[in-house]
Amino acid sequence: MVRYLITSAIPYINGIKHLGNLIGSQLPADLFARYQRARGNEVLFLCATDEHGTPAELAAAEAGQPIAEYCAGMHKVQSEISDGFRLSFDHFGRSSSLQNQKLTQHFAGRLAEANLIHEVSEAQMYSPTDGRYLPDRYIEGTCPNCGFEDARGDQCDNCTKQLNPTDLINPRSAVSGATDLEERETTHLYLAQSKMREQLQNWIDSKADWPILTTSIAKKWLNDGDGLQDRGITRDLDWGIPVKKGANPWPGMETKVFYVWFDAPIEYIAAAQEWQDAGKGNDWESWWRTDKGADDVIYTQFMGKDNVPFHTLSFPVTILGSGEPWKLVDYIKSFNYLNYDGGQFSTSRGRGVFMDQALELLPADYWRWWLLSNAPESSDAEFTWELFQTNTNKDLADVLGNFVSRVTKFCRSKFGETIPAGGHWAEQEALLIKDLTKRLRTYETLMEAMEIRKAAAELRAIWVAGNEYLQAVAPWITFKDNPKQAAAQIRLALNLIRFYAVISSPFIPDASSALMNAMQTRDACWPKDLESALTCMSPGQDFTVPDVTFRKITDDECAAWKVRFAGNA
Ligand code: MF3
Ligand code: ZN
Repeated sequence: MVRYLITSAIPYINGIKHLGNLIGSQLPADLFARYQRARGNEVLFLCATDEHGTPAELAAAEAGQPIAEYCAGMHKVQSEISDGFRLSFDHFGRSSSLQNQKLTQHFAGRLAEANLIHEVSEAQMYSPTDGRYLPDRYIEGTCPNCGFEDARGDQCDNCTKQLNPTDLINPRSAVSGATDLEERETTHLYLAQSKMREQLQNWIDSKADWPILTTSIAKKWLNDGDGLQDRGITRDLDWGIPVKKGANPWPGMETKVFYVWFDAPIEYIAAAQEWQDAGKGNDWESWWRTDKGADDVIYTQFMGKDNVPFHTLSFPVTILGSGEPWKLVDYIKSFNYLNYDGGQFSTSRGRGVFMDQALELLPADYWRWWLLSNAPESSDAEFTWELFQTNTNKDLADVLGNFVSRVTKFCRSKFGETIPAGGHWAEQEALLIKDLTKRLRTYETLMEAMEIRKAAAELRAIWVAGNEYLQAVAPWITFKDNPKQAAAQIRLALNLIRFYAVISSPFIPDASSALMNAMQTRDACWPKDLESALTCMSPGQDFTVPDVTFRKITDDECAAWKVRFAGNA
């Protein structure tokens, strides 16, 4: 048994995420967590809301709520929607937790002792119109690197470059649009990332098996002259983790908080502590400290490409720089973007489908299947209603759903709702088992490697193989002259339904458990040997014909949804 620590990038607290966000980290992380659990491995799957920083403050202001109240409310909302999508986090924490506060202050203290934090007196953008400093996302302007006009003060979403507010060309206030900004001197703490360039370089170079998307972004910013600039890790904001050196005050920093990107990844660790404190587990350190048993843990992180610099450079500096035996990530799976119907998803323009809306339209499995089987791995991907309709109708309704329905209904009409006895497997069955064995091993390899689209394609091929078998042996014809033989065929087909439920559960967990219920079995053991997996349910066991497993999405629905989610231009 292997122990898998799995984290998804923690979503910002400000509002409900869209389907592009979902497929960019949380959903693929869930697929991997469910798969590893299904294989009998021990899994700790953690996520949280990212509650600090300017996105949170701006959203609370817009909602007219005190920030703490806003965050508590949105955490609950996001948590319920995650449940709706069946995201199987062992804990969904909050970066504003006391555990994270303590741990963040602890790391800062360790980094200061290691001389990796220094004070810098610098110019900060101040807006007289707004009467405040404008850090990070409070300021927008043109990216000096690529010319993108809506770059934010902390990062350009177009080219992923990490920025400082003073880098922006034609800066403007995100609150008021004011451009009469001035620079004022204040002192901030800086993390000396540049001192660790060589260590980071060696570490990244040792990761030959990482996705190219991950290593290319890391290398780009490592080798680019100023990509690994020392970064300010404090801000002039009220909301956030107070700047302290461990438990001690930090003279001169009394009115400041840590930068959100400093404390957010630390929440990956704090979430394990929260998990334990919530009574859901024990020995969180055995997952996170190599001196306390985490040596044999395999740690995988999932995230969108814009998050890669923070996870390959900044957060490792925090971990390595602490000089303490914290677990470093073993594998970073990153994703490109999912676009929406010829453009981008847009929160501000209400363009595209958001997680809560998706669940109003259809059950989670439809979305899970489409998003995962079209995951933006090697390039950006695009959601269109036509593709969504065609793919889900074909894969889920025509292939999987139809198989289940034909098999169970045929059996009921000829043999009753009981696994029928009699007959023997012949050549077709042997061929099917051989084919499925090969395909299942391929599927396992792809799931292990987190090749999500390819794994989905293999799973689909496994479903198709069942249909082809059924078509070839045609038990409804066999039945006329040889009912015993038809019984053997349908017994195999019923066993295939259980087999499908087990191996498909990481993708479509609700349909899988509905099929398990219909087959009246609890044996969800991962199939090792196909022959025994397909004889697991024996003659005489009862089953029920399930309700429609997947319905078809109609043209009218698609047309209406296209209009509804087009957004206001
Ligand atoms: N909130 C960030 C985003 O949505 C992700 C933070 S990941 C963490 O882009 F590492 F900081 F936790
Ligand atoms: Zn840019």
